[in-house]
Amino acid sequence: MGNYKALYQRSLADPSGFWGEAAASLHWDKPWDRVLDLDAKPVPRWFPGGRLNTCFNAVDRHVEAGRGDQAALIYDSPVTGQKKTYSYTQLRDEVAAFAGALRAQGVTKGDRVLIYMPMIPEAAIAMLASARLGAVHSVVFGGFAANELATRINDAKPKVIVSASCGIEPNRVVVYKPLLDEAMKISVHKPSACIIKARPQAEAPLIEGRDLDWDAAVAVAQPTECVAVDATDPLYILYTSGTTGQPKGVVRDNGGHAVAMHWTMKHIYDVEAGDVYWAASDVGWVVGHSYIVYGPLLAGCTTLMYEGKPVGTPDPGAFWRVISEYGVKVLFTAPTAFRAIKKEDPNGEFLKKYDLSCMQALFLAGERCDPDTLFWARDKLGKPVVDHWWQTETGWAIAANPMGIEPMEVKPGSPTVAMPGYDVRILSEEGVEMADGDMGNIVIKLPMPPSCLPTLWGNDQRFIDAYLSKYPGYYLTGDAGYRDKDGYLWIMSRTDDVINVAGHRLSTGAMEEVLAGHADVAECAVIGVADALKGQLPLGMVVLKAGVERDEKEVLAELVKRVRDLIGPVAAFKLVTVVKRLPKTRSGKILRGTMVKIADSEAFKPPATIDDPAILDEIAESLRSLGYAKD
Ligand code: COA
Ligand code: AMP
Repeated sequence: MGNYKALYQRSLADPSGFWGEAAASLHWDKPWDRVLDLDAKPVPRWFPGGRLNTCFNAVDRHVEAGRGDQAALIYDSPVTGQKKTYSYTQLRDEVAAFAGALRAQGVTKGDRVLIYMPMIPEAAIAMLASARLGAVHSVVFGGFAANELATRINDAKPKVIVSASCGIEPNRVVVYKPLLDEAMKISVHKPSACIIKARPQAEAPLIEGRDLDWDAAVAVAQPTECVAVDATDPLYILYTSGTTGQPKGVVRDNGGHAVAMHWTMKHIYDVEAGDVYWAASDVGWVVGHSYIVYGPLLAGCTTLMYEGKPVGTPDPGAFWRVISEYGVKVLFTAPTAFRAIKKEDPNGEFLKKYDLSCMQALFLAGERCDPDTLFWARDKLGKPVVDHWWQTETGWAIAANPMGIEPMEVKPGSPTVAMPGYDVRILSEEGVEMADGDMGNIVIKLPMPPSCLPTLWGNDQRFIDAYLSKYPGYYLTGDAGYRDKDGYLWIMSRTDDVINVAGHRLSTGAMEEVLAGHADVAECAVIGVADALKGQLPLGMVVLKAGVERDEKEVLAELVKRVRDLIGPVAAFKLVTVVKRLPKTRSGKILRGTMVKIADSEAFKPPATIDDPAILDEIAESLRSLGYAKD
């Protein structure tokens, strides 16, 4: 244990000393020339000149250190009834073999490998195999539709795509191959090969000359050694929602990422080599990248891949079963998972069936953690519950309660304090620092700590415009909130069109683009409304073109289907209504924020610049028809 304040202050006063020491725990093929290059553009870079391989550090290093027989990865799939454990030696061999299969398809350092897979071990193996070759993976969440997949194919331009015949949702088998084929048809960039893991639940007919069967490809592959890369070379691209339909390709480098991931395991989560760590998320999200795959493996922990849900697979005791069965020390998930469990088992009856003495703490992130959920989890589990705040862009917590440094007093609703390396400031629109307790834009003074994005894939200018231009010298998080007198951060809302649905980050702008593309829609707005289970839900309001005389219900059903088909089921877009007009300012800006307040029955004051306040009554009436704006 240490002293948080002293450590934090040192990280800002002497970032090179702080992170240089942290980096010494890893294996470097060549040491860095400098820990931090402050002159690099568009942002400072970590460990230039250093060379390493992330896969070696996450897998082979532990085998060489004598931990080869320890469990590296446990796969538990209540939706298929399968369970499987890979030791570090087995994982290394599987990864080396699959890296050989990728190499046989011509994948070398710097090439992109797109991974569109469900929560099966092969997803992690494909990620690590890509890292082993010095290639750059880009994982696409399985709940996205073909169109979203195609957008990512066009941007990342992968040489190879790795997929599976299907994913499994509790209510259906999601056949991936038709989605992949459709994406390949509409994409401009055409990868040269697809490697498909066949699962018994669905067949995947292979296209000759392009598609290969995973098992067949691995059977003839030559196991491949790790390729050292520059610390500043990209390890992966992960697309995340921005304000438009064009997702942002967040780039993660190899060196800074490995150092930060490794550091967080001990200092934030308080786990060590040999401990069992479980992030109940999906490899398609940043939580999955950081804490299903890289973080726990870099630290020599046992990581868990769980293919199931918190409820319904088969019951709200699913998480407790997994924790007790494998001796999980730390569970990390989104608050929405706990709201789902609480809804089905409010008294925690299922908890009583399991021995959870192995569990040390629960970590929550991905969305604001409402105090009710925190209290419920803490009371029922009798363990510390840590809310921590971060983003795809950073890859690890900007604010947390550092359990491995110095557990701090909990203030429910606050993710506690800034983590080492993050110089968090709260600024007014004009760039003036806000007083304690006053809301503003949350920014991070450059340099950001290791692992934070150095750019957006192939688009420095978009990176600068989206994150660095508003306040020169600072990174804009896109979140608004405040710092209290004790230095605790409070993250209250987004300042852009991003909403958070069941812990999934989505763009209302992207949904608006899809609605606007319907032939009968003149204009539209999508807002995020409060939802007791998922935190937020998207809600669409459309104005139909003059002269459209179709049955409104039919049009609305088409709109719901359109979002599902073009963005994917994960958008959870089911609420949509026709309105006569949308409220706007006199300069024509749609008043989305005001509509959110009306929908959530919150007090609001229409902006002075509103064009016609009477429209707000019409909107309230339409929202009531969907069960919102009740009071
Ligand atoms: N592939 C295909 N479809 C998927 C999918 C995937 N990987 N993941 C979700 N979907 C589908 C769901 O089946 C659902 O479809 P439906 O409209 O036919 O029911 C839709 O996308 C919406 O999914 P979701 O918002 O997750 O709702 P849900 O009702 O299936 O589950 C929770 C709700 C709360 C149980 C679930 O979201 C959950 O466990 N979340 C917390 C953990 C988490 O993953 N957090 C992410 C970052 S930490
Ligand atoms: P993602 O990039 O998908 O991880 O989403 C990041 C966004 O989710 C952040 O910018 C916040 O808006 C929100 N978020 C994540 N964790 C928290 C948290 N603990 N408290 C409040 N908001 C959070």
